[in-house]
Amino acid sequence: MGKKFYEMEGREERLAFLREAAGLDGSEADAFGSPLEFESANRMVENAVGIMSVPLGIATNFVVNGVERLVPMAIEEPSVIAAASKAAKIARAGGGFKAEAGSSHMIGQVQVVSVKGIEPARKRVLARKKEILAIANAKSRSVAAIGLQARVVRDSSKNRMGSMLVAELIIDTKDAMGANAVNTMCEAVAPRIAEITGGQVVLKILSNYATRRMVKCSAVFGRQELGGGDGTVERILYAYALAHSDVYRAVTHNKGVMNGVDAVALATGQDFRAIEAGAHAYAARDGTYRSLTRWWRTKTGDLAGEIEMPLAVGVVGGVANVHPTARTALKIMGVKSAQELAAVIAAAGLAQNLAAMRALASEGIQKGHMRLHARNIAVMAGARGGEIDAIAKKIADAGAVNVEAAREALAEHRRRLLQQ
Ligand code: MEV
Repeated sequence: MGKKFYEMEGREERLAFLREAAGLDGSEADAFGSPLEFESANRMVENAVGIMSVPLGIATNFVVNGVERLVPMAIEEPSVIAAASKAAKIARAGGGFKAEAGSSHMIGQVQVVSVKGIEPARKRVLARKKEILAIANAKSRSVAAIGLQARVVRDSSKNRMGSMLVAELIIDTKDAMGANAVNTMCEAVAPRIAEITGGQVVLKILSNYATRRMVKCSAVFGRQELGGGDGTVERILYAYALAHSDVYRAVTHNKGVMNGVDAVALATGQDFRAIEAGAHAYAARDGTYRSLTRWWRTKTGDLAGEIEMPLAVGVVGGVANVHPTARTALKIMGVKSAQELAAVIAAAGLAQNLAAMRALASEGIQKGHMRLHARNIAVMAGARGGEIDAIAKKIADAGAVNVEAAREALAEHRRRLLQQ
């Protein structure tokens, strides 16, 4: 049997594996080494001076809807990729992740204020649906405005700006995230909506609360595979109970979920701020901020979990297409549609949550975390090459993961080498 991905020592060996497994050509594999030209960065943002890089690794063992997926994750935090891979391995023994992503329908909002006779105006907007959709659809060949709704929103802010009409376009963005197309369409229909309502249009923008773009993903984690003895499932259910019932725990619990979601989103060039904003609003949908995941015990005593969240992602258009690393990441993952990508991202979120709860409900995360962090500390203390692992092990074993201890260990290590 071939080596496991985590057993491959050097970067070259890992890249060679990916070239073979994902059919990467030379330049695609190179995209991981020299990610983004400064010129591209300069076109992407204003006042550019450089590029901020983040480690990118591959989480393994993911089987989503029966398909093996290598999962690229971009994240600076140690343990996350190993934890996702471990959780995916446990899920795999129970049949892998089962995911379902709905349609790619985004909502674009046009806010109208100073409307006299707001209810009749609302009805007039709806009566002109065909005409409004035609104006929107004249702006794009690739995405389609397919619906229109209109709501009256009462201002609850201190400013008392009065009631407003919000006309909402429903736009099928297909395999794109679609922010640009949605915003363009909203701006296109705004003047006509102002005429129809006799009001003034203020905002014309998509909603990142993508509730018509939901993904659901579940998996069963066998109690044997979870390890830690009989009480593990019970302790994880206690951890979930707190995340469901207490906002202070729920935020941290969901931060762990987003470790998985954001890392895959970043690696594949998605707008992770949009995903974050939508996810947290969804977590508070019943008025209380709760866990984005649900966990329960199966009849066989195993642990089952499910994540459900809005997830607006794309495999065409946007950064996903222009950033070489994101393009290669998508190729490695092998996803062909926004739905397939959403399914894998949700699986990474669920896996990450399980891994965090499993660690927290047993020995805690610090031991593993500090072991990995020890390598950074060793580098900060001046260790180079082979010294890094030796010093990291020494300070981790001694339970003294700090720069001072690492400096002393390094001095001692070098003295010994000289004496040999
Ligand atoms: C750390 O990045 C994430 C965790 O705090 C998540 C959690 O507490 O569930 C470990």
